[in-house]
Amino acid sequence: MLDKIKQTTEFLKSKVNLQPEIAIVLGSGLGNLGNEINPTMVIPYKEIPNFPVSTVMGHSSNLIFGTLEGKNVVAMQGRFHYYEGYTMQEVAFPIRVMKALGVKYLFLSNAAGGMNPNFNVGDIMIINDHINFMGTNPLLGPNIDELGPRFPDMSEAYNKKLIDLAIKCANKLNIPVNQGVYIGVTGPTFETPAEYRFFRIIGADAVGMSTVPEVIAAVHSDLPVFGVSIITDLGGFDNIQPISHEEVLKAADAAEPKLSAIIKAMLREL
Ligand code: HPA
Repeated sequence: MLDKIKQTTEFLKSKVNLQPEIAIVLGSGLGNLGNEINPTMVIPYKEIPNFPVSTVMGHSSNLIFGTLEGKNVVAMQGRFHYYEGYTMQEVAFPIRVMKALGVKYLFLSNAAGGMNPNFNVGDIMIINDHINFMGTNPLLGPNIDELGPRFPDMSEAYNKKLIDLAIKCANKLNIPVNQGVYIGVTGPTFETPAEYRFFRIIGADAVGMSTVPEVIAAVHSDLPVFGVSIITDLGGFDNIQPISHEEVLKAADAAEPKLSAIIKAMLREL
């Protein structure tokens, strides 16, 4: 694993003459923020040694180096999901590479189903904690001590300062935001009504099929994380409607400008 991280990092450093400070994972239908990056270099995943290739509709497959709001960034336009058949280690691999490239912050976005009865479709939820309900963990197996500790502390997986900054920026922009707990599941099935109820009862506000493995890898290597969900459908107690991937993408696209504005405002302040 260390060899692969090193090989991929060296490949990227040989191609790109830009030191990224912030890594951004652009989730479902949120790839548009990638188009606002002033690109130095766009590298398709398939050209990057050891990188998996994304297979889901609605996800592009590029690593974008460039500047956004005057900050040097590296953005993943399209991410890898466990349900696609990748191992948890493969899903986490790009995070480890971006850490090795020297980024100081990791921003992630995703689409999620809302269980909190106060949520509506199109709402933004700043993730303040998560529940790993994927039944596995990217850190299983021998620990790589060079990356981080055997038993990582998860008491503040989502960086409080970044959460505070996001709220400050959202307030300034007059964009309403919620905070809540994201529960990560494998998918690819959406939840049954009983599952949505169960997830609500055990303390989750929103459910999705990504983010948790990447956040675990980032926390393992002491990389501060900011995570945000767009609520694309609802799974409340008496408010469960059928849902399709197309609807998720549509709702995510509709909310995208609000989220982009918040993230850009945060970058200006960092
Ligand atoms: N469940 C799981 N993943 C999701 C959902 C959902 O309701 N919406 C978007 N991603």
